[in-house]
Amino acid sequence: MIESPALTRDAKLLPDTGEPGFGVYVHWPFCAAKCPYCDFNSHVRHQPVDQKRYVAAFLKEIVNARLMSGPKTVTSIFLGGGTPSLMKPETVDAIMNGISRHWHVPDGIEITMEANPSSVEAERFRGYRAAGVNRVSLGVQALNDRDLKFLGRLHDVADALKAIRLARDIFPRMSFDLIYARPNQTVEEWERELKEAISYAVDHLSLYQLTIEEGTPFYGLQKAGKLIVPDGNQSAALYEATQEITEREGLPAYEVSNHARPGAESRHNLTYWRYGDYAGIGPGAHGRLTRGAEKIATATERKPEAWLDLVERDGHGIIDEERLGFEQQSDELLLMGLRLKEGVDLARWQQLSGRDPDPKREHFLLEHGFIERIGNSRLRCTPAGMLILDSVVADLAC
Ligand SMILES: C[S@@+](CC[C@H](N)C(=O)[O-])C[C@H]1O[C@@H](n2cnc3c(N)ncnc32)[C@H](O)[C@@H]1O
Ligand code: SF4
Repeated sequence: MIESPALTRDAKLLPDTGEPGFGVYVHWPFCAAKCPYCDFNSHVRHQPVDQKRYVAAFLKEIVNARLMSGPKTVTSIFLGGGTPSLMKPETVDAIMNGISRHWHVPDGIEITMEANPSSVEAERFRGYRAAGVNRVSLGVQALNDRDLKFLGRLHDVADALKAIRLARDIFPRMSFDLIYARPNQTVEEWERELKEAISYAVDHLSLYQLTIEEGTPFYGLQKAGKLIVPDGNQSAALYEATQEITEREGLPAYEVSNHARPGAESRHNLTYWRYGDYAGIGPGAHGRLTRGAEKIATATERKPEAWLDLVERDGHGIIDEERLGFEQQSDELLLMGLRLKEGVDLARWQQLSGRDPDPKREHFLLEHGFIERIGNSRLRCTPAGMLILDSVVADLAC
């Protein structure tokens, strides 16, 4: 059995300090099949992937990210994809050891791994657990076989339930994802499915509305009139039913699409939404690293093999590095923070933007019930504002 001495001590999850924190994101860019709605950086390879070569490259990028970030205490690690549960436990173990060699990794931080129900095996799950993973996020997507087939998934409901059971047995924390607002989905059908999902959930659920992304097979079908998604009114009704049911069942939204029992929020995602720093490791990973007054936005090469070549040659796969000035940072802070129920810290926003929110615009949004103040120090979207989040952000940012 693999042992990561730095990461297997089974400390209780550290409390959320409310601070943005510092996260490490590692991207595994491979999937067993490409889902027709997905535009994530995920690729199918018919030859076995040389995981040792990827590990060596991940370790090089960790060294480079550490050089950029300086010494830091890590508050969360997230292995995302793609399908990270296609990684061997040894691969995960080596990545964890690399991270803990270069940054301070306290006991009890959240270490999440995304997993697909079709690639879940008990032995591998135990191996990930031994490597330090303490939270799994499963891509369940639907709880009926017809819709799983429509979504191009390789698993059926039975596989999903087996994976949920296994994850609950092995990991202290787990979440799963569902995609709703599917073609012809009625509010009643969704309500039934959501209640069933809640009965399997531990303390966290991610509930995403199906988005038709440009360049995906679903996009082509929609253009050809062969795929019709719920219209604005139906989507809003599905969204409202989602909020109502999850709230009633004790898993309220803490972000647009994320629901948790209080205290069980994803720490890693909170770091993004609270506009903290994070290192992005692996093909197509993004990072935000503060250097003095600037935040550096990094993006790596997306194509796995080209990323490998770059890292082996240069020690990192970064192809885009942008220095974000105060104005850009304040816009990003707003964009991310207004997704959260806790809203944004106004003093932080004022410090970055060098101004107060435009009084006329703020008044208009307040009057129409799209935003609200929490005391004097925070601003957030109301449920009505969440439905038109992009316009609210655009209005306040300019
Ligand atoms: C990057 S995927 C990783 C999870 C894992 N690969 C899986 O699919 O099981 C993260 C989640 O994004 C969601 N997602 C991806 N594309 C989406 C889309 N076009 N519309 C809505 N949700 C989407 C799915 O719920 C998925 O589980
Ligand atoms: S398994 Fe997940 S990451 Fe891979 S194609 Fe499907 S949705 Fe995208």
